Amino acid sequence: MVGHFPRLLAGAALAVFASGCVGTVPPPVSPAMLRVSRGATAQTLEAGRITLTTRCASCHRVYPVAAYSPARWAEIVEEMAERTKLDASQQAALLAYLTAAHATPPPAPNPAG
Ligand code: HEC
Repeated sequence: MVGHFPRLLAGAALAVFASGCVGTVPPPVSPAMLRVSRGATAQTLEAGRITLTTRCASCHRVYPVAAYSPARWAEIVEEMAERTKLDASQQAALLAYLTAAHATPPPAPNPAG
């Protein structure tokens, strides 16, 4: 069972993703995000985002960027990078993406709000 589990889970995650019920779609790399990326390039941020939506989604849903502070993300990424077998540059890109995405103001503020 253990052998088949990850593939099944990945399929389920994809289905959930498509239906948009559970989990979140991490925000795309944008000019606003680049302004708060502290020098990380669009390429680096995109690589981090892809790691998050693919590798990090192999065991569980994608946790929302806003759910954790950048300091907490740094701890989580360190721990999860081991489980995910990321190399140092993948890990750095992922953290750069999470940090920048966290600092990016939402694109459409509610005018009523
Ligand atoms: C090999 C399976 C696996 C992979 C791959 C994995 N995780 Fe996890 N993750 C877990 C498990 C299991 C938990 C449940 C809590 C625990 O055991 O620490 C968890 C919990 C979490 C949590 C919740 C932590 C909390 O304290 O609330 C976050 C956020 C998270 N993972 C992010 C990631 C990110 C980001 C990646 C990609 C770098 C990733 N995970 C890759 C297995 C995995």
